[in-house]
Formats: sequence, structure tokens, C-alpha cells
Amino acid sequence: VLVTRHRMKSSGKWTKAKAILRELEEKCGTPTGMLLQVADAMAVEMHAGLASEGGSKLKMLISYVDNLPTGDEKGVFYALDLGGTNFRVLRVQLGGKENRVVKKESDVLSIPPHLMVGSSHELFDFIAAALANFVATEGEDFVLLPGRQRELGFTFSFPVKQLSLAFGTLIKWTKGFLIEDAIGQDIVGELTKAMERVGLDMHVTALVNDTVGTLAGGQYNHPDVIAAVILGTGTNAAYVEWANAIPKWQGPLPKSGEMVINMEWGNFGSSHLPLTEYDQSLDAESLNPGEQIFEKIISGMYLGEIVRRVLCRLAEEASFFGDDIPIKLRIPFIIRIPVMAAMHHDDTADLKLVGSKLKDILEIPNSSLKMRKMIVEVCEIVATRGARLSAAGIFGILKKLGRDTVKKGEKQRSVIALDGGLFEQYSEFRNCLKNTLKELLGEEVSESVNIELSKDSSGIGAALIAASHSQYLETEES
Ligand code: GLC
Repeated sequence: VLVTRHRMKSSGKWTKAKAILRELEEKCGTPTGMLLQVADAMAVEMHAGLASEGGSKLKMLISYVDNLPTGDEKGVFYALDLGGTNFRVLRVQLGGKENRVVKKESDVLSIPPHLMVGSSHELFDFIAAALANFVATEGEDFVLLPGRQRELGFTFSFPVKQLSLAFGTLIKWTKGFLIEDAIGQDIVGELTKAMERVGLDMHVTALVNDTVGTLAGGQYNHPDVIAAVILGTGTNAAYVEWANAIPKWQGPLPKSGEMVINMEWGNFGSSHLPLTEYDQSLDAESLNPGEQIFEKIISGMYLGEIVRRVLCRLAEEASFFGDDIPIKLRIPFIIRIPVMAAMHHDDTADLKLVGSKLKDILEIPNSSLKMRKMIVEVCEIVATRGARLSAAGIFGILKKLGRDTVKKGEKQRSVIALDGGLFEQYSEFRNCLKNTLKELLGEEVSESVNIELSKDSSGIGAALIAASHSQYLETEES
């Protein structure tokens, strides 16, 4: 009798688990028709955001970068890249057209979590001190012209309202940062004051978003780059727009006729987006409820967290992990992208790797093959939705620019520079994104569109932008 009851209980558990999974699959579904609607909505919102300030959820921020680097840039420049879990400092010696990047040195530091939610003063002091330490390691082989102040391109990967290339106020924080007293502040001013406090003499020449830096760095290597997309902790895109297609732009028409726009697409929202109860609770409990909805279903900070929420429901309603709910599963954000990707990519016959991740990360010692298979399926569903929606976003940009079609005899190429850990480290995600973009563009057009990994180019891009706007440029030219 006992054995029978046990079996019944167990089969009931699987039936319930399967039902939860089918429901997830259905709610996360992204049929082609839906993606086309999302892309259309993206293009419509882009127009609205360019038309007027606050005209759309897409801020379509003006970057004041109206000239991307030409390759002629010369000299020693620094860059600081702040925006995710790590921040990077970089020093480059640029040698002009012939010698390009002559020398490059960089350092990566992780930001102590308490500084991400502390005070502006503390965060900027920490950064300035790290930068000062890095500057102190400058060797003699970096040739800084005598009497010149060091210059910096600051990649700050949050939405900023810029009033010039080196002046901008923080609109809001995203991605797990929340430092109230910095909102509305001039970011370059905050950094400059902190540098003064540590006795570092450095001029901030350019303040750029990581997408804008990646666009500049990407185009330096590949002239056909027209847009950059970040798929990392957060997600966002920037692209080159015609200045006369920006009704809200009040300034003089730039010589180039162009302006780089930071879309802040993470905040895109549309009734067409496939949202689930897991997304709703994640959003409600986040540091920025109601905001960055596109980001919360796509980017690296959130994908593993969605998976965790599904696993919690499986544990609660289908006793998926036995009678008790594993304690570790209760910890928000415990499943990070490297773990999710490793489980998803596991190609061992009995999903050994999934088993060992469950053991190491969630302290679930004994998992059956059936359980592991279902967990891989959860990862697959959540990652596929994110990757397909990212492709729809890119397709929306191409549509806006009229690059979703090719005219007969035209040899136009469109390269999208992609960067971020999610794209780089999660090959299932990456492949799905690429395949979906092909599917949306169709065979013929997709031959003229390329996605290229532009690894770590936001720092180099910021240094290049600083170089092409150097305070000494006019002296040199005259
Ligand atoms: C978040 C930020 C945005 C940044 C992106 C990628 O969406 O708001 O500025 O570009 O993350 O780092």
C-alpha cells in the first residue's frame, strides 16, 4: 500500500511540475508575429522619444557625440568604466592612423556591494582612489606631453541627461544601484570633486554611456558599425541618428549631420511583451518597480533570478525538491549567468554538470535526471525569450533606420557591435539571438547585417571620444 501511495504522490508531483512548465512555456512564447509587433512598437517609440522630451518610455538621450573617432586620435588617454558589478580603469596610447592603439593597460576591480546602495560621496571616493592608484603605475613608456593635464573618458552606464559632452545629470539608477543623493547630480562634477579629494589632477573630457563607448570603439575597428547593443548586467542600445531626425534637438546642426543617441531601451515597454507572474513579482520586489521592464526580462542580472522564482514555485507547489524547500533557493539573485549558462549548456549524458551546480550553489545534493532535465528546460525557456526579444529590439532599430530592406544593387552593410557578459558567455543565448535576427530579416537582407562581438570596447571608445574632443586639440590644430 505504501509503495503505491508513494508512486501516486510522485506521479502527481511530476504532473504538477509539468503543468507549471507548460504554463511558463506558453506565457514566455515569442512567435515571430509577436516579435514583429515588438519591433514595430520599438520603432514607434524611438520616433516618439526623439520628438519630445518625455514623449516616450524610451528616453532617446542625446549623447553630444556627433563625430565618431576617425582613427587620427593621438596621445595618452585614460578611461573609467562604471556600470555593472565591476569597474574598469584603462590607459591607452593612441598613435594615429598608422599606429592605432600603440599601448594599452587596464585593471578590473569589483565594486563592494554596500557602495552600490550607499552615498554618492563614498562611491566616487572609492572610484577616484582606485583611479589614482592606477595612474601611479603609469610607466615612462606612456608618453604624456610635458605640461599637459591627463584626460579621461568616463563611461558611466546609467541614464544621464547631458547638456554637453562633459556635463550630465543622473536621471535614475538601474541594475541594482540605488544611491539617492546622486540622482539629479552632475556626474562629472561628482567625480572631479572626488579626484580633487584624493589629489588626482585629471580632466574629464567626455562622459559617455557604455553603449556610446562601444559604438565608438566598434566603429574604430569596423567602419560599418551603425549601432551598439549591450547585453550584460543590464541591456541597452545606441545608434547613429540623423540630427535633423531629432525634433527635440535644439542646438545647431552638427557638421557631420549626425548624432549618437543613447536609447535606454531597457525601459522599453509594450503591451506585446510576454510577461509572466514571475516577472511581475520580480519587478514589484526590485529596487526600481515599474521601471526597466524590457531589461528585467532580457538582461544578465535578471535571467537567473527569473529561473530561481520558477524553481521556487516548483518547490512549493509540486514538492519538486522533496518535502522541504531548499534554503538557498530562497536567496534572491543566487543564480547568476555563469551558473545558468553552464546548466543550460550541459551536454553530458546524465546532466552531471546540472547536478553539481545544484549541489554547489543551491545545496541540493541529490537530483534525479528527470529534475535536471526540467531545470534545463526552465533555463531554455527563459533565455530564449530574452534572446528573441533582444533580436526584435535590434530589428526595430534597423527598421527605424530603413536598414531592414536592401535595394537592388545596393551594397549597404550594417554592423551591430555587441558587448556584455550575457552575450559573450552564454552561447545558447547568443546563437538564439543571431538566428532570430536572421528569421526577422529574411535570408537576403540578413546577409547585409552582421552582429559582432566588440569585447570591452566601451572603455577604449570613451578614451577615443576623449581624444577626439581633447582640450588641447585646438592648440594642436592651429
Ligand atoms: C542599464 C543602464 C544603461 C546601460 C545598460 C547596459 O540599462 O540604464 O545606461 O547602458 O544598463 O549597461
